[in-house]
Amino acid sequence: MNTDGKSTHDAQGDDRNDDILIWVNGELVHKDQAKVSVYDSGFMLGDGMWEGMRLYDGVWAFFDEHMDRLFNSLKAVSLDSGLTPESVKELLDKTAAANGMTTDAHCRLMITRGRKDKPFQHPQLSRSGPTVVAIIEHSKPSESVQGQGIRLATVPQVRGLPMSQDPKFNSHSKLNCVIACLQAEQAGADEALMLDPNGFVNTTNACNFFIVRRGEVWTSTGDYCMNGVTRQKVIDLCREDGIPVFEKNFSLYEAYGADEAFLTGTFGAQTPVAEIDGKQIGSGERPVMMRIRELYKALVAADTAAAR
Ligand SMILES: Cc1ncc(COP(=O)(O)O)c(C=O)c1O
Repeated sequence: MNTDGKSTHDAQGDDRNDDILIWVNGELVHKDQAKVSVYDSGFMLGDGMWEGMRLYDGVWAFFDEHMDRLFNSLKAVSLDSGLTPESVKELLDKTAAANGMTTDAHCRLMITRGRKDKPFQHPQLSRSGPTVVAIIEHSKPSESVQGQGIRLATVPQVRGLPMSQDPKFNSHSKLNCVIACLQAEQAGADEALMLDPNGFVNTTNACNFFIVRRGEVWTSTGDYCMNGVTRQKVIDLCREDGIPVFEKNFSLYEAYGADEAFLTGTFGAQTPVAEIDGKQIGSGERPVMMRIRELYKALVAADTAAAR
């Protein structure tokens, strides 16, 4: 097992996170006291949805897009949260303010079906819910991961079909992704590159995956992967900036021979991939990803300025 590996979610150390206040069902509670019941549907069954968001200069970036995905997922699993995008924003703002956070903070908002009467599966047993928790931490992505890049290994665990557990659900249960990540670590890599049921390259266990070949940007068709907010922003930015971009099937053959590869996600924005299955990707120069990074930074600045 690779125990000193990196992760796309490696953050720079910040002692202030030892004393943060967490939103738990309407109350702000010190991290050490923040608790949910052992009967909670999220703990017992992974029955809940979550959303990861970043605070830049007092504004939750791409908030509407995150709420769109969250409320769509909640509706799809008949989880009535009693929340609205406005009330979510209010609780996130209160939590950030209580922690003195204005920028470089990352939130994990979690909504579960709530506390069950008995330790069994049936959703009707979740009678006092939902459970709403927001953990917001001071967080800056690690510079070494952002500079050197991450090592991926392809793994036996594949993405699921939408009629089993739709991979578009940001559900509390991420066991499919966790198994994939374990397999990658056991193969000596940092994270997993997952294939779709047809063997095409799809996504990593925690981020969306892109390659650059001969000046073109490629990513999977969007089937079987998370409908990442950052993924869509990168596709839109390429289109607007005249960078050829394709959502298409491709195999490891094309991924290994790519000039660049990178991951996208709210936490790390764009994270370079150094190697896949022990094969170095390109020369280590990443002009297209660097261009996209600059475009993305400018987009975040424009989005947050417009919301202020
Ligand atoms: C499996 C997976 N892929 C990709 C992403 C990235 O999505 P986003 O860009 O919306 O953060 C996430 C984040 O939740 C994820 O869990």
